[in-house]
Amino acid sequence: MRENEKPYIILSAAMTIDGKIASKTGDPELSDEQDWREVHKLRSTVDAIMVGKGTILKDNPKLHIKYFDHKGYYRIVVDSNLSLPIDSNVINFQPQIYPTIICTTEIMSAENVNDFESKNVKILKAGKGKKVDLKKLMLILLNMGIKSILLEGGGTLNWSFIDLDLIDEMRLTIAPWIIGGKEAISLVEGEGFEKMTEGRKFKLIDVNNRDNYVILKYIRRTE
Ligand SMILES: NC(=O)c1ccc[n+]([C@@H]2O[C@H](COP(=O)([O-])OP(=O)(O)OC[C@H]3O[C@@H](n4cnc5c(N)ncnc54)[C@H](OP(=O)(O)O)[C@@H]3O)[C@@H](O)[C@H]2O)c1
Repeated sequence: MRENEKPYIILSAAMTIDGKIASKTGDPELSDEQDWREVHKLRSTVDAIMVGKGTILKDNPKLHIKYFDHKGYYRIVVDSNLSLPIDSNVINFQPQIYPTIICTTEIMSAENVNDFESKNVKILKAGKGKKVDLKKLMLILLNMGIKSILLEGGGTLNWSFIDLDLIDEMRLTIAPWIIGGKEAISLVEGEGFEKMTEGRKFKLIDVNNRDNYVILKYIRRTE
């Protein structure tokens, strides 16, 4: 499944030197202001931002743009059972600029659908499994006219995208800390591949550094 069959997916994350995207207590404060500006610039170029439910529960992000004028975009959350708190920022902060889509499964039986729809949240259903079927979801989103998505984590959702080989590009900021901790979330969590040769290989296309931060850009290398 590549171009023309799915939106173009850019994974964006800030991580420590040891590959953690939050501390063991969930502290996610890795980016400095310049990095946030660059991430917000990148947000202004896509049709949608996507995150997993874990990121909403832990960080309650607004997923907006603070630094630039822009036309807005969709905020997409994968939440198989529609269990997000209805007072989350992603639902209540500026919905007229950033309409929110929550992606669930076809077997989801939550009784609170109306509560979300009354806040103009669109509920999509993809797949009959326990988790959202991301391949099906990609087709649904493409058919809605969403051609590009900035995937902003967390580690569990990043793994599903890597596992299904859905990522086209990555923009990674390496912040100058080592934080350690096996409970601290890594850039990619999940089951993992057994062998290096099974891993997804990416081609480094740009490297920048400033103030002890390193910014890396990769594209998926399929050969
Ligand atoms: N530094 C950074 O750039 C950055 C960026 C984003 C997040 N973070 C950090 O990442 C942490 C959150 O990561 P996380 O791994 O706990 O959660 P996550 O990846 O944000 O969300 C995972 C959840 O999404 C739902 N989901 C539904 N369908 C899925 C599918 N097909 N594949 C995977 N997930 C699916 C599942 O919950 P259900 O089963 O309930 O549906 C799953 O538990 C936070 O600490 C946050 O601060 C850091």
